[in-house]
Amino acid sequence: MAVEPATRLVRPLQIGKHAIWPPVVLAPMSGVTNRTMRALYKPFGFGLTVTEFVSSNALQYQSQRTMEMIDQHGLEQPVSTQLWGNDPAIMALAARTVRECGADIVDINFGCPAPKVTKTAGGSACLRDVDRCEAIMRAVLDAVDCPVTIKMRLGWTEHDLVYLEVARRAEAVGISAITLHARTAKQFYRGTADWSHIAALKRAVSIPIIGNGDLHDAPTALARMQESGVDGVMIGRAVLGNPWIASDLHALLEGRIPAGYPAPAVRLRYALHHYETMVSELGETRAVPQMRKHLGYYLKGFPGASELRERLMRTLTAAETMGLVQATIDRLS
Ligand SMILES: Cc1cc2nc3c(=O)[nH]c(=O)nc-3n(C[C@H](O)[C@H](O)[C@H](O)COP(=O)(O)O)c2cc1C
Repeated sequence: MAVEPATRLVRPLQIGKHAIWPPVVLAPMSGVTNRTMRALYKPFGFGLTVTEFVSSNALQYQSQRTMEMIDQHGLEQPVSTQLWGNDPAIMALAARTVRECGADIVDINFGCPAPKVTKTAGGSACLRDVDRCEAIMRAVLDAVDCPVTIKMRLGWTEHDLVYLEVARRAEAVGISAITLHARTAKQFYRGTADWSHIAALKRAVSIPIIGNGDLHDAPTALARMQESGVDGVMIGRAVLGNPWIASDLHALLEGRIPAGYPAPAVRLRYALHHYETMVSELGETRAVPQMRKHLGYYLKGFPGASELRERLMRTLTAAETMGLVQATIDRLS
């Protein structure tokens, strides 16, 4: 593969005092990017990781589960902690709490389209009221002494694309960076992310822009970065079972030859490591169901993978699952 000398084109992603290299962000994914996952995947080539979104209302009660969501490993710094909510005062309190718990950056979610979030006017529903977005940004900025960023979609529907207006206000009030997932809220995940809007956003404001949406592989991510001129990219679904996408992009950004998607046995060996780490950190009862979906992702595209996936879905204990994966590794090796 021809390698562009991309180091000349791309600089570290600057968020406040944090110079982030490579400028590649592991997307926040609820139910996925817990602290174990962030610590495991960061060394592959993510300059920044983001927690799962945390409800600002829930943070007031400081339940064990909520506090665990904002907890850190110590290996994954800098960490951006993402909050969602609709009330500026509650968002400010939540921001103060997560900052006290070690967040290096506070990220505000103006992008989640899930009904359980938008029915309380949070997430992407905030985009229906740009004044409210501004009030939330101001309140959070006043509450903390670290950089504050936002992550948003284009707008609620294709008829009210408010992202440029929100971005201009974000820049004016002192937001340090903006991530744009280039779909509307009503699109959910339908259609494709329209990167022309990301390029338009980059031209419209001078704070760092992180482009997000449908980056399926490292060459595509590099191409979108160069075409749109963004300061960084965020990758979500393509990372599942494939953290090597980050090492490949890191290599491309530094003008090195990417190693590519590893052989099945290598992937499964890493999957076992992921599994064992999750069991040791979360305990078997919680890790086993969570790891079913991850194993499914690691098992993409090799002979016998679908049969193995089905068998793994039925396992009940970690020992049983790990035995099956190990037997497959032995067969593949
Ligand atoms: C399972 C899952 C959970 C997600 N949870 C969050 C979240 O907590 N906060 C957020 O801002 N976005 C969340 N997202 C959206 C992703 O961060 C990202 O914006 C989106 O998947 C588009 O990027 P991609 O095409 O690279 O996946 C989630 C996405 C998925 C698939």
